[in-house]
Amino acid sequence: MIETLSGSISDGAIGVFDSGVGGLTCVKELIRLMPHEDIVYLGDTARVPYGTRSRDTIAEYSRQDIRFMEQHNVKLLLVACGTVSAVMQTVPIFDGSSITCYSGVIIPAVDEACAVTKNGRIGVLGTAGTVRSGKYVEYIKNIDSGISVFQKACPMFVPLVENGYSSSEVTRIIAKEYLDEVKAAGVDTLILGCTHY
Ligand code: DGL
Repeated sequence: MIETLSGSISDGAIGVFDSGVGGLTCVKELIRLMPHEDIVYLGDTARVPYGTRSRDTIAEYSRQDIRFMEQHNVKLLLVACGTVSAVMQTVPIFDGSSITCYSGVIIPAVDEACAVTKNGRIGVLGTAGTVRSGKYVEYIKNIDSGISVFQKACPMFVPLVENGYSSSEVTRIIAKEYLDEVKAAGVDTLILGCTHY
């Protein structure tokens, strides 16, 4: 799925990519905050999900997605995928790139969660790849090492969303299954660490 969401991109658009439709939640916010910007969106629906794949595969797919974006004259790049944001931190992708700046989705969520938690217990829902990366825990502990982090991988959510089951009963049952465990951990703040969620 490849879309140019508005107008010409001759002055440079904001590029946004995700493994699928999840990153459109970020596009919605971008349009609200910057209504005059052009946006090029790549949803890699041919290879979704990323979150269940190996670290090397996710890194390789990320490099390919970014190369694709470089061919579309983007001036900024938003990595609207929690899994890629977690894994790509160590991948040297900007050497010789025309892209001037990029941002992932982890740090803003961590900053907000650390600012609002009252009991110092934060939950993180993410893909298996995001949870395995440990990036949320690392960033939260960098801000406040006293905060406890409870992570929960939710591998069923991405395929359910991609297949149009977001509001169905089966999704409610699975969400309850995942969230009961998170509630039992006593968290007062929950990070939705995947843009599909
Ligand atoms: N939206 C992606 C994320 O934020 C989903 C990853 C996947 O494809 O598993 O992690």
